[in-house]
Amino acid sequence: MNRGKVPPQDADLTNSESLSYKIAETLAGIIRQKPNCALGLPTGRTPLHCYRILREWPEFLDWSQVRCFSLDEYFDVEPEQTFGHYLETHLYRHVNVSRSNVFTAVQYDNYDELIGRCGGLDYILLGIGRNGHIAFNEPGTPLDSWTHCAWLDESTRMANQEFFGSLENVPQKAVTMGIRTILSSRRLALLAVGESKRDVLNLAMTGPICSEVPASFLRIHEHLEVLADFDW
Ligand code: GLP
Repeated sequence: MNRGKVPPQDADLTNSESLSYKIAETLAGIIRQKPNCALGLPTGRTPLHCYRILREWPEFLDWSQVRCFSLDEYFDVEPEQTFGHYLETHLYRHVNVSRSNVFTAVQYDNYDELIGRCGGLDYILLGIGRNGHIAFNEPGTPLDSWTHCAWLDESTRMANQEFFGSLENVPQKAVTMGIRTILSSRRLALLAVGESKRDVLNLAMTGPICSEVPASFLRIHEHLEVLADFDW
């Protein structure tokens, strides 16, 4: 496990911005080294700055062969409330990704088989939920879980209610890459931003490796980089 070392501080950048820049640099390097790489891309507040940096990347970055896999997706929501719309808004429409290389689990009966046919994932960027979830693998999700339909915890629904107007409108279910799906990636990065993630990151990285804290399973992976804008 590699505790992400923040790149040389730029006086104009906050710590979370420099971390986002470091991740954007990593992604750009992967794309340059392997133009048809397969990426697992997160949603939520945490990766927003990273996507902004990638949108404004100074040199031309050719996304035309990159395969983009979303980590998770809600069921039965309005198009503008989907994670697919989030990724389209914050990233896809700003780069030359081919829409035939954009994948989300709700479109496929066997997402894991599709990932396998694409040669596996090269890199997944993950956030962490306040209850220790990764993607939508909620507490209690077993290590041996592949892409599946998940019931969302109340804490997860509450954390996302601002995007649905009210808690009642937040979906109860979603489809998510499973723990095994995530661990099958050749590289993983976990980005945690904000004091609200300190305790859960500490628990996930130093407590027992168990299904009650799904993010703790990431420690099994030999190429995990953890980046946080706080000490943990
Ligand atoms: C949702 C997403 C996760 C994300 C988490 C944290 O549950 N399914 O992929 O990591 O929220 O989101 P945020 O970055 O907004 O804290």
